[in-house]
Amino acid sequence: MNILIKDILALLPEGVSTCSVYISGGTIASTGFAPEGFTPDKTINGSGKMLIPGLVNAHTHASMTILRNCADDLLFNDWLFGRILPLEEKFTGEDCHWGIKLAIMEMLRCGTASFIDMYSFMDDLAQAVADTGIRAVLSRGLVGGSDDFAASEQRMKEALDAVEKWKDIPNLSFMLAPHAPYTCDEGFLREIATEAKRQGLPITTHISESLSEIETIKERYGCTPVELCDRAGLLTDTTVAAHCVHLTDNDISILASRGVTVATNPVSNLKLANGIAPVPKMLKAGVKVALGTDGAASNNTLNMFRELTMLTLIHKGVNHDAKAVSAREGINIATKNGAMALGRSDLGEIRPGNIADLAIIDLGQPNMQPLNDPAAALAYSSNGSEVETVIVGGKILMENREFLTIDAERTVYEVSKICERIGTK
Ligand code: NI
Repeated sequence: MNILIKDILALLPEGVSTCSVYISGGTIASTGFAPEGFTPDKTINGSGKMLIPGLVNAHTHASMTILRNCADDLLFNDWLFGRILPLEEKFTGEDCHWGIKLAIMEMLRCGTASFIDMYSFMDDLAQAVADTGIRAVLSRGLVGGSDDFAASEQRMKEALDAVEKWKDIPNLSFMLAPHAPYTCDEGFLREIATEAKRQGLPITTHISESLSEIETIKERYGCTPVELCDRAGLLTDTTVAAHCVHLTDNDISILASRGVTVATNPVSNLKLANGIAPVPKMLKAGVKVALGTDGAASNNTLNMFRELTMLTLIHKGVNHDAKAVSAREGINIATKNGAMALGRSDLGEIRPGNIADLAIIDLGQPNMQPLNDPAAALAYSSNGSEVETVIVGGKILMENREFLTIDAERTVYEVSKICERIGTK
C-alpha cells in the first residue's frame, strides 16, 4: 500500500520541516519529492499536524493493564510479593491476551508503535501482536534456578518454543528474559546467557531496581547486581536492562563498556519509591539509554508522553541543572535509542529507507498552540491525547483515534470480566 502524508510538519533527523512523506511497501520512500511512478492508495492531509517517529516503549509488562489501580501506594516488596504475585497466580492465558490487547490500545492511543515486553503465556501474547499488527519484542519472564530446577527448565522451554512457533509473524521478535538477579540464581543466569548466545537471541532483564535488591545480592554474592549479571555473561550490546536505579561508578562503566541499553522507567521508580536512576551520569559515561513505562500496575499508564515529560523534568530537578536531559535528548531517547534497544537501525527516525513506524499529532489542541519549538511541545506540553493516527510498518493501525485492528469495546468488556473474577473490581 502506498500512503502519501501531504505537507506535514515532520520531525526529521536534521530538524523539523514541512514536507510530504511517501510510504511504499512498509518503508519511507521519500521525505521530499514523489518517487518515480508513486501513486498513493491513501492520502493524509498533514495541514495542522506533526509527524513523529512512532515511540518505542523499551520496557513493559503489557498484560498487567489488568492490574491497573489495584496495588497502589505500596513499597516495592509489599507491592510485588504482597499484592501483585498472588493476583498474577489467578491469570490464565486468555486473561493475558485481553490484557495485552488493552495495553496495545493504550499504547497506540499515545503514539507508541513498538514495545519490549516481559511476561508469560507467550502464545496468547503473540496472537494479540499478530492480530493487532503492532511491533513487539516478547519475552517469557524466567525465574528460578537449582532449587526449582524442573519448573525453571519448563519456563525456558516455553520461551524457546514461542520463538520457533511465532518466527514468521511480521513485526514480532523475541528476547530471553531472566526476570532479575534476585529471582534467578547465578547458575540459571549463566544458563540463560549461554542459551541466548546459542540461539542468537537478545536479553532483557531487570537490574538494580530497589535498595532491597542491592542488599540481597550483596549478601548472597558479595557484589552488585550489575557485577553479578556481568560475571554471568548476561551483559552484551544486545542486552536491554530495565531500571538501573542504584548504580556504582563501576556499574556504570560496566554497562557502558558492554554496550548495554538501559531502559529507564522514571514513573514506576517514583511510584514504588525506588528512587531516581542516574540518567545524566549514564549518558555522560556513554551508556545507551532508552525509555519504558514498566507495567500499568506500577505506572499506572503506558503513556510514553507522560514518561518523556517525567524523564526530561526529574533530572533537572534533582541535579539542579536545567540542561540535564533536554527536550531534544528526551525525544531521541524515546525514539532513536528505543530503536537501538530493539536492535534496529531502520527504525526510530523519519528518513528514506527506514521502516514506516510513525505517529501523527494534532496540533489544533489548545495545549499545542502556539507551537513555537516543536521539541519543547512534545516533551513539555503534550500529554499523548494529541495523537490521532499511528502507522506501523506502513500499515495504519489507528486513524483519527479509531482502532482499525482491535475491537475496543469487546477488549474493555473482557478485561472488566477478568477483574470481577480475580476480585480487584
Ligand atoms: Ni518491569
